[in-house]
Amino acid sequence: MAVREILRMGHPVLLRHADPVTRFDTPELYALLEDLHDTMAAANGAGLAAPQIGVSLQVVVFGVRSNPRYPEAAQVPYTVLVNPVITPLDEALEDGWEGCLSVPGLRGIVPRHSRVRYQGFDAAGRSIDRTVEGFHARVVQHECDHLIGKLYPMRMRDLTQLGYTSVLFPGLDDSDDD
Ligand code: NI
Repeated sequence: MAVREILRMGHPVLLRHADPVTRFDTPELYALLEDLHDTMAAANGAGLAAPQIGVSLQVVVFGVRSNPRYPEAAQVPYTVLVNPVITPLDEALEDGWEGCLSVPGLRGIVPRHSRVRYQGFDAAGRSIDRTVEGFHARVVQHECDHLIGKLYPMRMRDLTQLGYTSVLFPGLDDSDDD
């Protein structure tokens, strides 16, 4: 159990395509997942991808339970997702605010598919197959982007809508970011 350092934008690992996990149910995979969980919780994040702690593997975790940083967000169950594949189910893109623990202190408006199906595996290798929408769909798209070297500013269409959280949302507790 460890809180790891979160790599920030500019680190080359964040720009790489992560490798698929080839062995499930291993002590190494469980240790990685524990570190991801602990690091995300310590930063009060909505999600974290393995490359953000320097591990270039296709592993993400996410989940939101009444996060004070996302008062409007629906609850998203804590999910471990390995080797994910996302299929957009809606051509429509929806704009919404995002932040990223690798881009601390900033928020930007990012277009995402409003409804997606995601498939993948849990740590034991059991398959996961969900169809989600709204904030849940946004979070999974954001996290899976980390596995193909994309940070949310690269998805933005209008950089005038990128700003410091403390300026954009002065009332929001900005001790951490995600
Ligand atoms: Ni992120």
